[in-house]
Amino acid sequence: MHRLSSDVGSRKGALRSGWRWRWTASLLVLHAAVARASLFPDRYAMADVCTIRKELEVNCQVKSRLGKNETSGSFKGLLMQFGETDCRVSIEQCFPDSCYSFRDLTAQLPSDFLLLGSTGFFKKFEIIRGGKDARLTREGVSFVATSSKVVIEYSTVTCQEFFRYHGRVPIQLCNQPIEAITPIDTRGPNAIGCEATT
Ligand SMILES: *[C@@H]1O[C@H](CO)[C@@H](O)[C@H](O)[C@H]1NC(C)=O
Repeated sequence: MHRLSSDVGSRKGALRSGWRWRWTASLLVLHAAVARASLFPDRYAMADVCTIRKELEVNCQVKSRLGKNETSGSFKGLLMQFGETDCRVSIEQCFPDSCYSFRDLTAQLPSDFLLLGSTGFFKKFEIIRGGKDARLTREGVSFVATSSKVVIEYSTVTCQEFFRYHGRVPIQLCNQPIEAITPIDTRGPNAIGCEATT
């Protein structure tokens, strides 16, 4: 201990100028990062924000890189983020001609009014290839696989859009994940059918 502190004392000057240099260097790195981020804003957003990934251990399933809600009594839903934009996911080992679906768990939260045309937590869910009949409603999403690999692209609402609709939710946190969807289901009791509802 003593030796360390006298060592530190004798090298104080050298250390101080070393810090100054390091501080300048890290500012330069920061500048470079900011310049890069503003050159490619979309690419950055995609890399940072998309949560849904394929889950290869289960047929035709997805997982979230943020995991799921493990709190007992929760729906064990996948955690997602607001403002996920144009996220592309390939869902694999699906059975062609089967109907797949997942529920939007945010439909259970209190909402102030019925926003016409609101599609809940997602504002986009499209099939890029390998599927058809994607249907997005406040209840959730359903689609029919036409091949074993279904590639989809989705976007989620922004925090502002979400809480404009769910204004009565007591704690409104924008920078935290939200328990958003169930895993993909095919014939379970919670599955959403793929037949057009009239
Ligand atoms: C997880 O579930 C609990 C119990 O339902 C809930 O209070 C909590 O808000 C959920 N967490 C997230 C991140 O949604």
